[in-house]
Amino acid sequence: MSYIQRINSILKPSSKRSPLVVDLFAGCGGLALGFEAAGFETHGFEQDADCCATYEANLGGRCEKVCIEPGMQFPEASVVIGGPPCQPFSVGGHQLGLKDSRDGFPSFIAAVKALNPEIWLFENVRGILYGNRWYFDQIIGSLRDLGYVVEFGLLNAVDFGVPQNRERVIVVGHRGHFVFPHAAPRRVTAREALEDMLFVTPQGSKFLTKSMDAYVARYEKASCCVKPRDLDLDRPARTLTCRNLAGATGDMQRIKLPDGRRRRLLLREAARLQSFPDSFEFSGGESSAYKQVGNAVPPLMAYRLAESVRNYLKSTTRLKAPDIAIRNLPDQLVLEIP
Ligand SMILES: C[S@@+](CC[C@H](N)C(=O)[O-])C[C@H]1O[C@@H](n2cnc3c(N)ncnc32)[C@H](O)[C@@H]1O
Repeated sequence: MSYIQRINSILKPSSKRSPLVVDLFAGCGGLALGFEAAGFETHGFEQDADCCATYEANLGGRCEKVCIEPGMQFPEASVVIGGPPCQPFSVGGHQLGLKDSRDGFPSFIAAVKALNPEIWLFENVRGILYGNRWYFDQIIGSLRDLGYVVEFGLLNAVDFGVPQNRERVIVVGHRGHFVFPHAAPRRVTAREALEDMLFVTPQGSKFLTKSMDAYVARYEKASCCVKPRDLDLDRPARTLTCRNLAGATGDMQRIKLPDGRRRRLLLREAARLQSFPDSFEFSGGESSAYKQVGNAVPPLMAYRLAESVRNYLKSTTRLKAPDIAIRNLPDQLVLEIP
């Protein structure tokens, strides 16, 4: 089965849907789509109206437009997932960490505490493991104190059949034995993803002007790029972000056409490289749609994680508090995924 057939046939809400998954900071539902495809029911919470509209138009579950805060009530659920934002690491020079209520993590931790799910999972950018490691350790500590074995891995979407290098930290809390998904044997290229739409130039296509070409060339020289960072069709794409999809920046995502012109990536191309099925429609204007795509967990990667969560729920091993404490000893905490 080709990549396109795979995403279009697998990634759709399943007809049997249970148990309920509460999805916090749900975005357009990339993570939730993977869970619905694996047979879960989802209920999203998200503050952006366009994201909620996209979620409800494409998924089986509903998405409440709400600004999530610590102490909020959620429906009872055995699984909690989410993509909490973590921007304000420093406030007026003070690193407030979990005391900063503008950050998403205090709300995520409060929801886990209130719902006491069997398993929870969140994703974040790889940077949280490095420059802001002190904050990451605070988050992990608070979640361990709620009585969970906490394990995490730096996973690359390209290892799960997504035609894109996209590293994300996936953190899971459980009370038994959780197995992270295994890497796929083969990497999918951008050509396989865009196959039937390669080099199209629909109305409204944005071509790079001469001055943009010069700007990009200066940027690439300054960043010591050996060759232009146009989409290399024979490899997986580089990481798609809100910034490099929607903005005319030095590292903007673009494709070189056979006639030599360079065109910014189309929304549908970006969606394919993120493994959204072709039937998935994004609500809102162009920059909102690019933002939704750039922010999402690739649904195919989410699907593989959801399968691991389902296997965990089916398993019968559950640990008692002393064994959970032993599993959480610092030198056993880091689970590196190949
Ligand atoms: C990284 S994105 C989530 C992506 C999503 N998991 C997916 O796979 O599509 C984070 C989302 O959190 C939302 N957000 C940020 N702060 C929020 C808050 N306090 N309440 C609700 N949503 C919030 C943003 O609008 C954004 O859509």
